[in-house]
Amino acid sequence: MTGFMRRKPINGAERHGDRLPPTLSWPHLMALGVGAIVGTGILTLIGVGADRAGPSVLLSFAIAGAVCACAALAYAELAAMMPAAGSAYSYAYSALGEIIAWVVGWSLILEYSLVVSTVAVGWSGYASPLLAGFGFPVELTQGPELGGLVNLPAIFIIAVVTGLLLLGTRESARVNTVLVIVKIATLSLFVAVALPHFEAAHLSPFMPYGFGSTPGPDGVQRGVMAAAAIIFFAFYGFDAISTAAEETKRPERDLAIGIVGSMLVCTLIYVLVAAAAIGAVPFAGFADSPEPLALILRELGRPGVAHVVATAAVIALPTVLLAFLYGQSRIFLAMARDGFLPGSLAAISKRGTPARITTATAILVAILAGLLPIGEIAALANAGTLIAFMAVGACLIVLRRSRPDLRRPFRAPAALAVGLGAVLGCLYLFTSLPAKTLLWCLGWNVVGLLIYLGYARHHSRLAKAGQGAEGRVG
Ligand code: ALA
Repeated sequence: MTGFMRRKPINGAERHGDRLPPTLSWPHLMALGVGAIVGTGILTLIGVGADRAGPSVLLSFAIAGAVCACAALAYAELAAMMPAAGSAYSYAYSALGEIIAWVVGWSLILEYSLVVSTVAVGWSGYASPLLAGFGFPVELTQGPELGGLVNLPAIFIIAVVTGLLLLGTRESARVNTVLVIVKIATLSLFVAVALPHFEAAHLSPFMPYGFGSTPGPDGVQRGVMAAAAIIFFAFYGFDAISTAAEETKRPERDLAIGIVGSMLVCTLIYVLVAAAAIGAVPFAGFADSPEPLALILRELGRPGVAHVVATAAVIALPTVLLAFLYGQSRIFLAMARDGFLPGSLAAISKRGTPARITTATAILVAILAGLLPIGEIAALANAGTLIAFMAVGACLIVLRRSRPDLRRPFRAPAALAVGLGAVLGCLYLFTSLPAKTLLWCLGWNVVGLLIYLGYARHHSRLAKAGQGAEGRVG
């Protein structure tokens, strides 16, 4: 066992000569959070959720939201207490030991990469009909599984967002703030038009496929929990804020405001959008649609508004890509600094961004987005996220017990209940994912553990320095 349970001292977490320059404050972080959270989940996967659960997708939203609220509170306490670019990976390294930190970091890489790929494919789904109007060939807008060659719009949008990130954090944050406003305005427009058409009759029967996650005759898993395991995608993104810890001017205050604030804003928006969507038309009318909100508006006889919503989605969806590509590079950075990945990857460019990691990540996720279908990538992204959220819930509980003395600028209320809510809630959602997704996730982690045993364990900076604390934190 020795070595695997090494823990990183909490206060020594981020003493580096190549520290990222602090340029962000809480309004930037709120914008980063809302920009990361509101995306393909509410714009596209609400249709998939309605297909899996019927009107009770509203309950799926509530369950996924409650689990994410627990995780967000845990993140807020930990991020304010130990601001570190590695987010859940860094917390796990200090609280749970090296090997669990590796699994969490490896899962975060899965999450962040696949969210970027998923959202790029989702963006392409909205943008492609517009491009088709200019004669752009359909086979260049879809991956091989859907009968195309490659999804070029998805690759294009990843390239654009990467360019923005390479320009520097402050510039990216400004563009992000403008796009977030567009996104909120678009969803508000949808609610304003659809909500007056609310009819209680559209909510009946409320739970046509039951509560759990059981395969139907077509092999697709249905029920409230099956939908919740997918709708979960809509809620996360607040975790990306914690990766901006190093670039935050007053992390102990701004991170908690950013994480909890953006989660509250998004939950409010989702409740309104989901109620408006489900109440406006029978759910079968938009179930599994690639553009459910626009479709509902057309069914309500408002094609002009539908066009505005679809166009705004194309303009604003890249904020999700921005936040996750940003978060991905910071997690790589944290792992490279700890010796888990080659150190040359952690170099900061003259513009203050980890350019090599950002570019390498972008190339990888662009290849995935160019070739793979959206549904499976999203489910696997959820699997990686759920592992990280479980670890964060556990870190909250462990550190409250082992280090009650540490200064906590933000304290999660009812910490034990919140921590258990995150761990058990995420576990329940995890087991509700399709079996195929769980197998892919297992495969990913087996590869990860082989890399840990063959490379990372021997290059671990903590091991070389002989600093690790066994069974003790801090
Ligand atoms: N929550 C983000 C989205 O829905 C990942 O796109």
